[in-house]
Amino acid sequence: MSTYGSYPAARPRRLRTTAAMRRLVAEHRPHPADLILPVFIREGVSEPVPVSAMPGVVQHTRDSLRKAAVEAVEAGVGGIMLFGVPERKDAIGSQGTDPDGILQVALRDVRAEIGDELVVMSDLCLDEYTDHGHCGVLDEQGRVDNDATLERYAEMARVQAAAGAHVLGPSGMMDGQIGYVRRALDEAGHQDVSLFAYTAKYSSAFYGPFREAVGSSLKGDRKTYQQDPANARESLRELALDLAEGADMVMVKPGLPYLDVLRDFTERVDVPVGVYQISGEYAMVEAAAEKGWIDRERAVLETLTSFKRAGASMVLTYWATEAARWLGRER
Ligand code: PBG
Repeated sequence: MSTYGSYPAARPRRLRTTAAMRRLVAEHRPHPADLILPVFIREGVSEPVPVSAMPGVVQHTRDSLRKAAVEAVEAGVGGIMLFGVPERKDAIGSQGTDPDGILQVALRDVRAEIGDELVVMSDLCLDEYTDHGHCGVLDEQGRVDNDATLERYAEMARVQAAAGAHVLGPSGMMDGQIGYVRRALDEAGHQDVSLFAYTAKYSSAFYGPFREAVGSSLKGDRKTYQQDPANARESLRELALDLAEGADMVMVKPGLPYLDVLRDFTERVDVPVGVYQISGEYAMVEAAAEKGWIDRERAVLETLTSFKRAGASMVLTYWATEAARWLGRER
């Protein structure tokens, strides 16, 4: 038997002896109210369309989206984030700024259905609406034009706020987007609409399945505006800028490959920090579980716990409603 000097050996395992003990001493636990459900609303379909690379996820019809929002409320989920999939795309993403574009219609539907029972958010980006698939408009050389794009984002912000979004999520990684959109909202009388900045958004291979989900037509990549996975300090620069420009909440995206960045943020800021567990992270777990290689529920809850452990206040996850149900039934 080993001892430290004259003291008995420390035995951390005492605190792991029973389920009740482990529950009592748990430092972090995900809660349904922390979860945000990302949803896709597709124009012109009469049945929900499954996204093949994301088993269990669909492109919603207006009706099925309303139902999904109600189910999220009933499960205790905290928020919902809407992405629009329009029928028609063009060079400037006109449908993104049309007051009757599919995202705006869906925002009105969801607010009419669930009012203020969920925080209703919308993605503020052009990639779902442009025929070239980029997050902004292009200049004559085919490069993404930062400042011309800001003008489009300001217009999108006004129509999304008017349609009833509580929170807008600018996700295009244009320089100055938070300040520009904030000013546009304030000038239009939308002082109460919050900005959830996609602050550290990396150019990730894990976005693959999402591009199917929004019917993206992107040919190249987003490396001139999204961050290089090699860089961590650069995220702190983006963070300082977004906070100075008026971000109410900040986000790290993707999740698991960037837990270090998430920790950097949560240690530094006094605004809520969210993390986006993206499509490829979802697809990996679903694929392995389908093959019987991992326990799906345990794996999902472990990932959600890891985000809490790294300090996240909020987690965007395609499992939000299901995970909230699991968490609600836990003793
Ligand atoms: C851009 C946007 C993307 C995602 C959310 N907002 C795609 C991209 O940058 O290519 C990805 C979400 C996911 O993969 O789950 N509007």
